[in-house]
Amino acid sequence: LKIKKSEYVLSAVKPDQYPEANVPEIALAGRSNVGKSSLINTLINRRSLARTSSQPGKTQTINFYKINDAWYFVDLPGYGFARVSHDAREEWGRMINTYLEQRTVLKEIWQLVDLRHPPSEQDQQMMQWLNYKNYPCIVVATKADKISKNQRSKNVKVIKETLGVTEEEIVIFSAQTGEGKEKLLQRIEQLL
Ligand code: GTP
Ligand code: MG
Repeated sequence: LKIKKSEYVLSAVKPDQYPEANVPEIALAGRSNVGKSSLINTLINRRSLARTSSQPGKTQTINFYKINDAWYFVDLPGYGFARVSHDAREEWGRMINTYLEQRTVLKEIWQLVDLRHPPSEQDQQMMQWLNYKNYPCIVVATKADKISKNQRSKNVKVIKETLGVTEEEIVIFSAQTGEGKEKLLQRIEQLL
């Protein structure tokens, strides 16, 4: 897949703000700071179209990026950000739930986890919920540049076991080195 054009379209917190549902979408979920926005930038070869930050909680709305005038990357707000109130967390849950449940053009959800750590409680809950709802999804294990080759295979095993996914359902990725980028672009090509 060649990315020829990418543009930020809009941010939404509720369905009447979403763009018209007339092209396929791929949505990125995962805890805050895991690298969702960075993954989008890496795949589309733009340094900062999707805003990233070393401070967790950067993305607080559902952000739509239109690619090649043909499909959307949807950057979902991250979960697990400790410094938010109970109300904000509930609001987050509702926002994500509504999007996932209503969006008929959603082709696949990419659940991002940090390859350095075992999946968190919330990562597991998210995956259980996606499975329960029968949504098509894969796991993208990010920040692969930050661990050794030896540690990586151990961690992949832990991710497979805790999230209940097969080797084929995991893509190892690094926004730093571009590892996994081609694999993901090929996957998009198949999905569209
Ligand atoms: P929220 O918007 O808060 O949900 O976070 P996010 O998941 O969009 O994370 P973001 O892409 O903003 O990245 C968070 C931090 O991790 C930034 O400082 C990135 O530069 C860094 N980062 C993201 N991906 C990688 C990676 O593959 N390798 C390394 N070394 N750092 C990364
Ligand atoms: Mg973000």
